[in-house]
Amino acid sequence: MTIVVTGGAGFIGSNFVLEWLAAGAGPVVNLDKLTYAGNLANLASVSGDPRHHFVRGDIADAALVGRLLAKHRPRAVVHFAAESHVDRSIHAPDAFIQTNVVGTFRLLEAVRGHWQSLDGAGREAFRFLHVSTDEVYGSLSETDPPFSETTAYAPNSPYSASKAASDHLVRAYHHTYGLPVLTTNCSNNYGPFQFPEKLVPLMIANALEAKPLPVYGDGRQVRDWLYVGDHCEAIRLVLEKGRPGEVYNVGGNAEKPNLDVVHALCDSLDALRPREGGHRGLIARVADRPGHDRRYAIDAGKMRSELGWSPRESFESGLARTVRWYLDNADWVAQVRSGEYRNWIEKNYGKRA
Ligand code: NAD
Ligand code: TYD
Repeated sequence: MTIVVTGGAGFIGSNFVLEWLAAGAGPVVNLDKLTYAGNLANLASVSGDPRHHFVRGDIADAALVGRLLAKHRPRAVVHFAAESHVDRSIHAPDAFIQTNVVGTFRLLEAVRGHWQSLDGAGREAFRFLHVSTDEVYGSLSETDPPFSETTAYAPNSPYSASKAASDHLVRAYHHTYGLPVLTTNCSNNYGPFQFPEKLVPLMIANALEAKPLPVYGDGRQVRDWLYVGDHCEAIRLVLEKGRPGEVYNVGGNAEKPNLDVVHALCDSLDALRPREGGHRGLIARVADRPGHDRRYAIDAGKMRSELGWSPRESFESGLARTVRWYLDNADWVAQVRSGEYRNWIEKNYGKRA
Protein backbone atom coordinates (compact mmCIF):
# COMPACT_ATOMS: atom_id res chain seq x y z
CA MET A 1 0.00 0.00 0.00
CA THR A 2 3.03 2.25 -0.48
CA ILE A 3 2.68 5.65 -2.11
CA VAL A 4 5.39 7.82 -3.66
CA VAL A 5 5.28 11.52 -2.87
CA THR A 6 7.41 14.00 -4.85
CA GLY A 7 8.43 17.27 -3.21
CA GLY A 8 7.57 15.94 0.24
CA ALA A 9 10.20 18.09 1.97
CA GLY A 10 8.55 21.32 0.80
CA PHE A 11 5.70 23.21 2.41
CA ILE A 12 2.56 21.37 1.30
CA GLY A 13 4.32 18.05 0.64
CA SER A 14 5.74 17.83 4.18
CA ASN A 15 2.36 18.70 5.72
CA PHE A 16 0.83 15.97 3.56
CA VAL A 17 3.44 13.34 4.55
CA LEU A 18 3.13 14.15 8.27
CA GLU A 19 -0.67 13.93 8.15
CA TRP A 20 -0.60 10.77 6.01
CA LEU A 21 1.67 8.97 8.49
CA ALA A 22 -0.25 10.31 11.51
CA ALA A 23 -3.43 8.84 10.02
CA GLY A 24 -1.73 5.41 9.79
CA ALA A 25 -2.29 5.37 6.05
CA GLY A 26 0.74 3.28 5.00
CA PRO A 27 4.35 3.68 3.86
CA VAL A 28 5.58 6.75 1.95
CA VAL A 29 8.57 7.01 -0.36
CA ASN A 30 9.43 10.71 -0.39
CA LEU A 31 11.44 11.85 -3.45
CA ASP A 32 12.77 15.40 -3.11
CA LYS A 33 15.71 17.24 -4.66
CA LEU A 34 16.09 19.47 -1.61
CA THR A 35 16.26 22.76 -3.48
CA TYR A 36 16.29 25.93 -1.36
CA ALA A 37 12.58 25.20 -0.66
CA GLY A 38 13.06 21.63 0.54
CA ASN A 39 13.88 21.17 4.21
CA LEU A 40 14.37 17.92 6.09
CA ALA A 41 13.69 19.78 9.34
CA ASN A 42 10.01 19.77 8.26
CA LEU A 43 10.12 15.97 8.55
CA ALA A 44 12.11 15.74 11.78
CA SER A 45 9.16 14.27 13.69
CA VAL A 46 9.06 11.23 11.35
CA SER A 47 12.82 10.77 10.90
CA GLY A 48 12.73 7.53 12.91
CA ASP A 49 9.51 6.21 11.40
CA PRO A 50 10.21 3.07 9.31
CA ARG A 51 7.17 3.90 7.13
CA HIS A 52 8.90 7.07 5.85
CA HIS A 53 11.60 6.47 3.26
CA PHE A 54 13.32 9.67 2.12
CA VAL A 55 15.24 9.75 -1.17
CA ARG A 56 17.14 12.82 -2.31
CA GLY A 57 16.79 13.09 -6.07
CA ASP A 58 15.36 14.87 -9.08
CA ILE A 59 11.99 13.98 -10.64
CA ALA A 60 13.70 14.56 -14.01
CA ASP A 61 16.14 11.70 -13.29
CA ALA A 62 14.28 9.01 -15.22
CA ALA A 63 16.64 6.19 -14.20
CA LEU A 64 16.30 7.00 -10.49
CA VAL A 65 12.51 7.34 -10.65
CA GLY A 66 12.26 4.09 -12.64
CA ARG A 67 14.34 2.26 -10.01
CA LEU A 68 12.23 3.63 -7.16
CA LEU A 69 8.97 2.60 -8.81
CA ALA A 70 10.28 -0.89 -9.63
CA LYS A 71 11.52 -1.37 -6.07
CA HIS A 72 8.55 -0.02 -4.10
CA ARG A 73 5.69 -0.87 -6.49
CA PRO A 74 3.53 2.06 -5.25
CA ARG A 75 -0.23 2.12 -5.66
CA ALA A 76 -0.12 5.88 -6.23
CA VAL A 77 2.17 8.82 -6.92
CA VAL A 78 1.27 12.20 -5.43
CA HIS A 79 3.20 14.88 -7.32
CA PHE A 80 3.97 18.06 -5.37
CA ALA A 81 7.54 18.74 -6.57
CA ALA A 82 7.82 22.05 -8.39
CA GLU A 83 9.44 25.42 -8.44
CA SER A 84 6.61 27.32 -6.81
CA HIS A 85 7.31 31.03 -6.33
CA VAL A 86 6.04 33.57 -8.90
CA ASP A 87 8.65 36.22 -8.07
CA ARG A 88 11.50 33.74 -8.55
CA SER A 89 10.00 32.72 -11.89
CA ILE A 90 10.20 36.36 -12.98
CA HIS A 91 13.88 36.64 -12.03
CA ALA A 92 14.97 33.19 -13.29
CA PRO A 93 12.40 31.14 -15.25
CA ASP A 94 14.75 28.34 -16.41
CA ALA A 95 14.37 26.15 -13.34
CA PHE A 96 10.58 26.40 -13.67
CA ILE A 97 10.63 24.98 -17.18
CA GLN A 98 13.15 22.31 -16.18
CA THR A 99 11.32 21.02 -13.09
CA ASN A 100 7.68 21.84 -13.75
CA VAL A 101 7.59 20.94 -17.44
CA VAL A 102 10.54 18.63 -18.24
CA GLY A 103 10.53 17.08 -14.75
CA THR A 104 6.80 16.35 -14.84
CA PHE A 105 7.19 14.88 -18.33
CA ARG A 106 10.02 12.55 -17.23
CA LEU A 107 8.07 11.56 -14.14
CA LEU A 108 4.99 10.78 -16.26
CA GLU A 109 7.09 8.63 -18.59
CA ALA A 110 8.51 6.63 -15.68
CA VAL A 111 5.06 6.29 -14.10
CA ARG A 112 3.56 5.15 -17.40
CA GLY A 113 6.19 2.38 -17.60
CA HIS A 114 5.45 1.32 -14.02
CA TRP A 115 1.67 1.39 -14.52
CA GLN A 116 1.91 -0.70 -17.69
CA SER A 117 3.93 -3.32 -15.78
CA LEU A 118 1.15 -3.84 -13.20
CA ASP A 119 -1.41 -6.65 -13.40
CA GLY A 120 -5.06 -5.86 -14.24
CA ALA A 121 -6.20 -5.11 -10.69
CA GLY A 122 -3.06 -3.08 -9.97
CA ARG A 123 -3.54 -1.01 -13.11
CA GLU A 124 -7.18 -0.42 -12.23
CA ALA A 125 -6.36 0.78 -8.71
CA PHE A 126 -3.28 2.88 -9.57
CA ARG A 127 -3.49 6.70 -9.38
CA PHE A 128 -1.21 9.59 -10.39
CA LEU A 129 -2.32 12.72 -8.52
CA HIS A 130 -0.94 15.98 -9.90
CA VAL A 131 -1.02 18.97 -7.55
CA SER A 132 -1.48 22.20 -9.46
CA THR A 133 -2.59 25.78 -8.95
CA ASP A 134 -5.48 28.12 -9.67
CA GLU A 135 -2.94 30.47 -11.29
CA VAL A 136 -3.22 28.47 -14.54
CA TYR A 137 -6.62 30.15 -15.08
CA GLY A 138 -5.12 33.66 -15.14
CA SER A 139 -6.57 36.75 -13.50
CA LEU A 140 -10.19 37.63 -12.59
CA SER A 141 -11.80 41.06 -12.48
CA GLU A 142 -13.63 42.11 -9.30
CA THR A 143 -16.96 40.98 -10.71
CA ASP A 144 -16.00 37.77 -12.57
CA PRO A 145 -17.36 34.49 -11.16
CA PRO A 146 -14.71 32.31 -9.43
CA PHE A 147 -12.62 29.77 -11.42
CA SER A 148 -14.35 26.47 -12.11
CA GLU A 149 -12.83 23.27 -13.51
CA THR A 150 -13.90 24.36 -17.00
CA THR A 151 -12.46 27.89 -16.94
CA ALA A 152 -10.14 28.37 -19.93
CA TYR A 153 -6.40 28.37 -19.18
CA ALA A 154 -4.72 31.81 -19.40
CA PRO A 155 -1.51 31.67 -17.35
CA ASN A 156 0.29 35.00 -16.98
CA SER A 157 3.63 34.32 -15.23
CA PRO A 158 6.46 31.95 -16.12
CA TYR A 159 5.45 29.98 -13.01
CA SER A 160 1.79 29.61 -13.97
CA ALA A 161 2.67 28.93 -17.61
CA SER A 162 4.99 26.10 -16.53
CA LYS A 163 2.28 24.64 -14.26
CA ALA A 164 -0.27 24.94 -17.08
CA ALA A 165 2.10 23.02 -19.36
CA SER A 166 2.44 20.29 -16.75
CA ASP A 167 -1.36 20.09 -16.36
CA HIS A 168 -1.71 19.62 -20.12
CA LEU A 169 0.87 16.82 -20.12
CA VAL A 170 -0.94 15.05 -17.29
CA ARG A 171 -4.23 15.38 -19.14
CA ALA A 172 -2.68 14.06 -22.35
CA TYR A 173 -1.28 10.97 -20.57
CA HIS A 174 -4.82 10.10 -19.52
CA HIS A 175 -6.33 10.79 -22.92
CA THR A 176 -3.63 9.01 -24.95
CA TYR A 177 -2.40 6.19 -22.72
CA GLY A 178 -5.26 5.83 -20.24
CA LEU A 179 -3.01 6.61 -17.26
CA PRO A 180 -5.39 7.07 -14.27
CA VAL A 181 -4.56 10.66 -13.40
CA LEU A 182 -6.22 13.14 -11.05
CA THR A 183 -5.47 16.86 -11.08
CA THR A 184 -6.14 19.31 -8.28
CA ASN A 185 -5.93 23.08 -8.82
CA CYS A 186 -5.85 24.87 -5.50
CA SER A 187 -5.72 28.44 -4.27
CA ASN A 188 -3.05 30.11 -2.08
CA ASN A 189 -2.06 27.87 0.81
CA TYR A 190 -0.77 29.04 4.19
CA GLY A 191 0.18 27.26 7.40
CA PRO A 192 3.12 25.59 9.19
CA PHE A 193 6.44 25.00 7.34
CA GLN A 194 5.81 27.53 4.57
CA PHE A 195 9.07 29.04 3.33
CA PRO A 196 9.14 32.76 4.23
CA GLU A 197 9.28 34.01 0.65
CA LYS A 198 5.47 33.77 0.27
CA LEU A 199 3.20 36.51 1.60
CA VAL A 200 1.99 35.10 4.95
CA PRO A 201 5.26 33.71 6.41
CA LEU A 202 7.33 36.58 4.95
CA MET A 203 5.15 39.13 6.76
CA ILE A 204 5.25 37.19 10.04
CA ALA A 205 9.02 36.72 9.91
CA ASN A 206 9.67 40.36 8.98
CA ALA A 207 7.26 41.66 11.63
CA LEU A 208 9.00 39.64 14.34
CA GLU A 209 12.27 41.37 13.43
CA ALA A 210 10.59 44.79 13.12
CA LYS A 211 11.52 44.87 9.41
CA PRO A 212 9.32 46.59 6.77
CA LEU A 213 6.30 44.60 5.52
CA PRO A 214 6.57 45.02 1.73
CA VAL A 215 3.13 45.28 0.09
CA TYR A 216 3.29 45.24 -3.72
CA GLY A 217 1.47 48.02 -5.60
CA ASP A 218 -1.87 49.10 -4.13
CA GLY A 219 -2.26 45.94 -2.03
CA ARG A 220 -5.79 45.41 -3.39
CA GLN A 221 -4.97 42.16 -5.24
CA VAL A 222 -7.22 39.34 -4.07
CA ARG A 223 -6.26 35.76 -3.26
CA ASP A 224 -8.45 32.90 -1.93
CA TRP A 225 -6.68 31.64 1.21
CA LEU A 226 -6.64 27.90 1.95
CA TYR A 227 -5.27 26.41 5.18
CA VAL A 228 -2.72 23.74 4.27
CA GLY A 229 -4.36 21.07 6.47
CA ASP A 230 -7.63 21.52 4.58
CA HIS A 231 -5.76 21.18 1.30
CA CYS A 232 -4.06 17.95 2.46
CA GLU A 233 -7.43 16.50 3.46
CA ALA A 234 -8.81 17.38 0.02
CA ILE A 235 -5.89 15.61 -1.68
CA ARG A 236 -6.43 12.46 0.41
CA LEU A 237 -10.11 12.46 -0.60
CA VAL A 238 -9.40 13.00 -4.29
CA LEU A 239 -6.83 10.21 -4.17
CA GLU A 240 -9.30 7.75 -2.66
CA LYS A 241 -12.54 8.81 -4.32
CA GLY A 242 -11.76 11.06 -7.30
CA ARG A 243 -12.61 9.90 -10.79
CA PRO A 244 -9.59 9.27 -13.05
CA GLY A 245 -9.16 11.95 -15.70
CA GLU A 246 -11.04 14.54 -13.62
CA VAL A 247 -9.91 17.92 -12.35
CA TYR A 248 -10.87 19.19 -8.88
CA ASN A 249 -10.61 22.83 -7.79
CA VAL A 250 -9.75 23.26 -4.11
CA GLY A 251 -10.27 26.66 -2.44
CA GLY A 252 -10.47 28.12 1.03
CA ASN A 253 -13.68 30.06 0.52
CA ALA A 254 -11.75 33.05 1.88
CA GLU A 255 -11.15 35.78 -0.68
CA LYS A 256 -9.11 38.63 0.81
CA PRO A 257 -7.20 41.62 -0.55
CA ASN A 258 -3.51 41.43 0.36
CA LEU A 259 -3.67 44.50 2.57
CA ASP A 260 -6.45 42.89 4.64
CA VAL A 261 -4.29 39.78 5.09
CA VAL A 262 -1.35 41.88 6.26
CA HIS A 263 -3.58 43.87 8.61
CA ALA A 264 -4.98 40.65 10.09
CA LEU A 265 -1.43 39.33 10.63
CA CYS A 266 -0.38 42.58 12.30
CA ASP A 267 -3.41 42.53 14.61
CA SER A 268 -2.79 38.92 15.55
CA LEU A 269 0.86 39.67 16.34
CA ASP A 270 -0.16 42.77 18.31
CA ALA A 271 -2.24 40.49 20.55
CA LEU A 272 0.36 37.74 20.96
CA ARG A 273 3.66 39.65 20.74
CA PRO A 274 2.91 43.38 21.27
CA ARG A 275 5.39 45.99 20.04
CA GLU A 276 5.33 49.70 20.67
CA GLY A 277 3.25 51.50 18.04
CA GLY A 278 1.81 48.23 16.74
CA HIS A 279 2.85 46.12 13.74
CA ARG A 280 0.76 47.96 11.13
CA GLY A 281 3.31 50.79 11.33
CA LEU A 282 5.82 48.49 9.61
CA ILE A 283 3.76 48.25 6.40
CA ALA A 284 5.63 49.67 3.40
CA ARG A 285 4.19 50.02 -0.09
CA VAL A 286 6.79 48.87 -2.63
CA ALA A 287 6.98 48.61 -6.44
CA ASP A 288 4.48 46.17 -7.90
CA ARG A 289 5.26 42.71 -9.29
CA PRO A 290 5.46 42.81 -13.12
CA GLY A 291 2.33 41.26 -14.65
CA HIS A 292 0.75 40.95 -11.20
CA ASP A 293 -2.55 38.99 -11.38
CA ARG A 294 -5.36 41.01 -9.84
CA ARG A 295 -7.66 38.37 -8.42
CA TYR A 296 -7.86 34.59 -7.94
CA ALA A 297 -10.97 32.86 -6.56
CA ILE A 298 -12.03 29.22 -6.58
CA ASP A 299 -15.45 27.68 -6.95
CA ALA A 300 -14.98 24.46 -4.95
CA GLY A 301 -18.53 23.24 -5.66
CA LYS A 302 -17.34 20.03 -7.35
CA MET A 303 -15.25 19.04 -4.31
CA ARG A 304 -18.30 19.69 -2.13
CA SER A 305 -20.92 17.91 -4.21
CA GLU A 306 -18.85 14.93 -5.43
CA LEU A 307 -16.53 14.30 -2.50
CA GLY A 308 -18.27 16.01 0.42
CA TRP A 309 -15.26 18.24 1.10
CA SER A 310 -15.23 21.80 2.30
CA PRO A 311 -12.55 23.63 4.28
CA ARG A 312 -12.72 23.19 8.06
CA GLU A 313 -10.72 26.32 8.90
CA SER A 314 -12.06 29.83 8.46
CA PHE A 315 -9.51 32.45 7.42
CA GLU A 316 -9.47 33.75 11.02
CA SER A 317 -8.96 30.34 12.68
CA GLY A 318 -6.36 29.21 10.10
CA LEU A 319 -4.40 32.43 10.41
CA ALA A 320 -4.43 32.25 14.22
CA ARG A 321 -3.04 28.69 14.08
CA THR A 322 -0.39 29.78 11.60
CA VAL A 323 0.80 32.80 13.59
CA ARG A 324 1.04 30.66 16.72
CA TRP A 325 3.06 28.03 14.83
CA TYR A 326 5.60 30.61 13.64
CA LEU A 327 5.89 32.07 17.14
CA ASP A 328 6.44 28.59 18.60
CA ASN A 329 9.00 27.61 15.94
CA ALA A 330 11.46 30.50 15.99
CA ASP A 331 14.38 28.05 15.46
CA TRP A 332 12.87 26.75 12.22
CA VAL A 333 12.40 30.34 10.99
CA ALA A 334 15.96 31.31 11.93
CA GLN A 335 17.39 28.25 10.16
CA VAL A 336 15.57 28.85 6.86
CA ARG A 337 16.34 32.57 6.87
CA SER A 338 20.09 32.04 6.74
CA GLY A 339 22.25 31.43 3.67
CA GLU A 340 20.57 31.52 0.27
CA TYR A 341 17.49 33.25 1.69
CA ARG A 342 19.41 36.49 2.26
CA ASN A 343 20.50 36.62 -1.38
CA TRP A 344 16.88 36.21 -2.47
CA ILE A 345 15.64 39.01 -0.22
CA GLU A 346 18.31 41.33 -1.62
CA LYS A 347 17.51 40.34 -5.20
CA ASN A 348 13.72 40.70 -4.91
CA TYR A 349 13.38 43.63 -2.52
CA GLY A 350 16.69 45.52 -2.84
CA LYS A 351 15.58 47.57 -5.85
CA ARG A 352 11.86 47.94 -4.99
CA ALA A 353 11.62 51.54 -3.86
P1 NAD B 1 7.60 24.37 -2.15
O1 NAD B 1 8.36 25.28 -3.05
O2 NAD B 1 7.48 24.70 -0.71
O3 NAD B 1 8.21 22.90 -2.23
C1 NAD B 1 8.58 22.29 -3.42
C2 NAD B 1 9.38 21.04 -3.08
O4 NAD B 1 9.73 20.39 -4.32
C3 NAD B 1 10.68 21.32 -2.35
O5 NAD B 1 10.83 20.41 -1.27
C4 NAD B 1 11.75 21.11 -3.40
O6 NAD B 1 13.00 20.66 -2.86
C5 NAD B 1 11.10 20.04 -4.27
N1 NAD B 1 11.62 20.04 -5.64
C6 NAD B 1 11.79 21.11 -6.46
N2 NAD B 1 12.30 20.72 -7.65
C7 NAD B 1 12.42 19.36 -7.58
C8 NAD B 1 12.85 18.37 -8.50
N3 NAD B 1 13.28 18.71 -9.73
N4 NAD B 1 12.84 17.08 -8.12
C9 NAD B 1 12.42 16.73 -6.88
N5 NAD B 1 12.01 17.63 -5.96
C10 NAD B 1 12.00 18.93 -6.32
O7 NAD B 1 6.16 24.24 -2.82
P2 NAD B 1 4.74 24.07 -2.14
O8 NAD B 1 4.22 25.41 -1.78
O9 NAD B 1 4.79 23.01 -1.12
O10 NAD B 1 3.88 23.59 -3.41
C11 NAD B 1 3.70 22.21 -3.69
C12 NAD B 1 2.92 22.07 -4.96
O11 NAD B 1 1.66 22.73 -4.82
C13 NAD B 1 3.59 22.70 -6.18
O12 NAD B 1 3.38 21.86 -7.29
C14 NAD B 1 2.87 24.02 -6.36
O13 NAD B 1 2.86 24.42 -7.72
C15 NAD B 1 1.48 23.66 -5.87
N6 NAD B 1 0.71 24.80 -5.32
C16 NAD B 1 1.19 25.50 -4.26
C17 NAD B 1 0.43 26.54 -3.73
C18 NAD B 1 0.89 27.35 -2.54
O14 NAD B 1 0.17 28.27 -2.13
N7 NAD B 1 2.00 27.03 -1.92
C19 NAD B 1 -0.80 26.89 -4.31
C20 NAD B 1 -1.23 26.15 -5.42
C21 NAD B 1 -0.47 25.09 -5.89
P1 TYD C 1 2.58 34.94 -2.97
O1 TYD C 1 2.56 34.47 -1.56
O2 TYD C 1 3.90 35.13 -3.65
O3 TYD C 1 1.61 33.99 -3.80
P2 TYD C 1 1.07 34.12 -5.33
O4 TYD C 1 1.85 35.16 -6.04
O5 TYD C 1 1.35 32.75 -5.84
O6 TYD C 1 -0.38 34.46 -5.20
O7 TYD C 1 1.84 36.35 -3.03
C1 TYD C 1 0.49 36.48 -2.59
C2 TYD C 1 0.07 37.91 -2.88
O8 TYD C 1 0.84 38.80 -2.06
C3 TYD C 1 0.34 38.34 -4.31
O9 TYD C 1 -0.71 39.18 -4.75
C4 TYD C 1 1.63 39.11 -4.23
C5 TYD C 1 1.57 39.73 -2.84
N1 TYD C 1 2.88 39.94 -2.18
C6 TYD C 1 3.21 41.20 -1.65
O10 TYD C 1 2.42 42.16 -1.74
N2 TYD C 1 4.42 41.34 -1.05
C7 TYD C 1 5.33 40.33 -0.96
O11 TYD C 1 6.45 40.54 -0.42
C8 TYD C 1 4.97 39.03 -1.47
C9 TYD C 1 5.92 37.89 -1.39
C10 TYD C 1 3.73 38.89 -2.08
